[in-house]
Amino acid sequence: MIESITMEDVAVDVEGVDYTYTQSQKIDALRDISFKVNTGDFVSFIGPSGSGKSTLLHLISGLLNPSKGVIYVNGEKSFSSLGRVAFMPQRDTLFPWRTVEKNAVLGAEILGVPRKVAFQKASELYELFGLAGFEKVWPNQLSGGMRQRLALLRTFLIPKDTILLDEPFGSLDALTRYEMQQWLQQIWDHDRRTIILVTHDVDEAILLSDTIYILSERPGSIIKRVDVSIERPRKKKVIHSTEFTQIKSEIFQILGSEI
Ligand SMILES: Nc1ncnc2c1ncn2[C@@H]1O[C@H](COP(=O)(O)OP(=O)(O)OP(=O)(O)O)[C@@H](O)[C@H]1O
Ligand SMILES: [Mg+2]
Repeated sequence: MIESITMEDVAVDVEGVDYTYTQSQKIDALRDISFKVNTGDFVSFIGPSGSGKSTLLHLISGLLNPSKGVIYVNGEKSFSSLGRVAFMPQRDTLFPWRTVEKNAVLGAEILGVPRKVAFQKASELYELFGLAGFEKVWPNQLSGGMRQRLALLRTFLIPKDTILLDEPFGSLDALTRYEMQQWLQQIWDHDRRTIILVTHDVDEAILLSDTIYILSERPGSIIKRVDVSIERPRKKKVIHSTEFTQIKSEIFQILGSEI
């Protein structure tokens, strides 16, 4: 099965990766991580706080270099490939001196999308993202959830085939979260970009993913891969299905009471 997969079919290939932070004290964050994400797949990572999930996305994005092992993004080593993925970090990175609409187009503009085109694309999404009417305001005039939606909108405007999302819905209420999950499913179904999502929410991971990787406590290593073959599109009611509840209880058994 694996043998027939060519390089182009694999968007992200992580091989035997360890990561140790060495700034003030040595902290082993990740140990012996290996996995492949096929182009167009939706993959999630869940695991306890501090298990290295954000570290893993920083490594894939090329912002950090593995202490051991190697990561390929579209067949190229990721440390030499900064800017090959669209990355929404866990911490909001909006620029306080740019208005909502100028923050929205920032990543796209940096990658050479003409400003007019980027503004047009952004304007089609404000309504859906609950930001209509706020285009001209400053980030400090937005709620936490609005800031998060703006950061997500900005990430999707970046014209990259692979998107890394670090807890993109963490500060949203349940209803908005569900709406955004549905939107994410739709856009993924439509564009088939490769998505790697980090989340604490087991329902969210099952609802959205083809594959879920579960990380152990620090140093994080993959303790289980769970494939989700529930038919798409997956509406809210799917969470009551036998398939869904079986996967959920399997995941909770593995995680114990860790999250
Ligand atoms: N810049 C840094 N310098 C030193 N240690 C760090 C740094 N960033 C993270 N760490 C450490 O690495 C470990 C993994 O952190 P990371 O942020 O990747 O975890 P996480 O799984 O994303 O956690 P959470 O679910 O809370 O977001 C933690 O022990 C953390 O203290
Ligand atoms: Mg994190």
